[in-house]
Amino acid sequence: MHSTQRGIRCSRAARTLGAVALMLWLTGISARAQQAGLAPTPPMGWSTWNHFKHDISDALVRQQADALVASGMRDAGYVYVNIDGGWEGYRDAQGVLHPNKNFPDMKALGDYIHSKGLKFGMYTGPGPQTCAGAPASYGHVAQDAKMFASWGVDYVKYDLCSFRKIMQQQSGGNQARADQIMRDAYAQMHQAILATGRPMVFSMCQYGWAKVWKWGPSVGGNLWRTTGDISDSYARMSSIGFRQAGLARYAGPGHWNDPDILEVGNGGMTLDEQRTHFSLWAIAAAPLIAGNDVVHMTPETRGILLNKAVIAIDQDPLERAGDRVSAEGPLEVWKRPLVHGDMAVALFNRSDAPQFMTVDLARLGWHGAAQAKDLWNPHTFSIAQTYTTVVPVHGVVLLRLSRPTTGSNAATIE
Ligand code: GAL
Repeated sequence: MHSTQRGIRCSRAARTLGAVALMLWLTGISARAQQAGLAPTPPMGWSTWNHFKHDISDALVRQQADALVASGMRDAGYVYVNIDGGWEGYRDAQGVLHPNKNFPDMKALGDYIHSKGLKFGMYTGPGPQTCAGAPASYGHVAQDAKMFASWGVDYVKYDLCSFRKIMQQQSGGNQARADQIMRDAYAQMHQAILATGRPMVFSMCQYGWAKVWKWGPSVGGNLWRTTGDISDSYARMSSIGFRQAGLARYAGPGHWNDPDILEVGNGGMTLDEQRTHFSLWAIAAAPLIAGNDVVHMTPETRGILLNKAVIAIDQDPLERAGDRVSAEGPLEVWKRPLVHGDMAVALFNRSDAPQFMTVDLARLGWHGAAQAKDLWNPHTFSIAQTYTTVVPVHGVVLLRLSRPTTGSNAATIE
């Protein structure tokens, strides 16, 4: 071939490639923009799973939705009403997945949820079955996404479960290949959701495998579980919560680390343990998905779930997750940068005895004095350099630091 001809062909090919690259780049940008628009701050809501497990129905979900409104939780930000596993019935010959008899009309339930100013979340997975053996979306991904869209779903939790077997079979035991098959499965559902044209938050649940925080956003994840399942005990909650250390840099607008649904109000933890739970989730910018019985909440539970100052840390508009500053045996200090140069600081005592702990402003990278607000024991004071306090067993002292206002007459604690 003549060299000029080859040159023309090459430059044509280069232009085509360039156009394709530009298109992919733009698609990437618009997917990212849509992602950020969907969950600009960590999603907040309620889920059927932690408290009710499979014992769920249309009536129960409506009652809980009503209680979210009546309790003030909706107005505090808990807007997603997420039906977890246990709604599924059977898949018919046309491939349509039907809810079980406890959910006679999902579209009507979705309408009800929306009529309360709430949003509607649903659950499925890439495998043939859910963890409970009910039908999931394998081979029917686009069909299920379309059905969810027709029901008015706003949030899809996608749980790996039985897909693990498929990964094993298709990869022939090759780990890298198995991980790729998993990534592709999440990307497939994300694409199917995009194709419906209905914005739906995409909640990835694959227990933090293969460092999901590194690739979750690239397959459309708005949030991804970073660990296995939580349960209602300090041991399990704290092992999951404190394992968020080091993950802050992977979180941001539209894509958040998810240490799982809250166990606040479920009865298995002391008041201090539950405050630790809620504070840790807020510092880590974790989704706040309540997992309790909202109809029957004690004042103690309300006091935690509706602590607006702590919620404000979780939802802070600077959108930078917090992380661990230090761990000295069972004593951990975490911080989170906030808007207007504020900072959240949490002193966590994981030991079985009360402990003195110290906030040292210099170690937090804070210059000058600070105005401090204690968020669980509301009072305000000044800190010149350090502040030492007793942190209860399995408890937390959570402070919001801000620049001292001139003329403040709050006491200075050295
Ligand atoms: C688990 C998942 C839980 C819950 C449960 C339902 O795999 O991690 O959050 O969704 O399945 O069966």
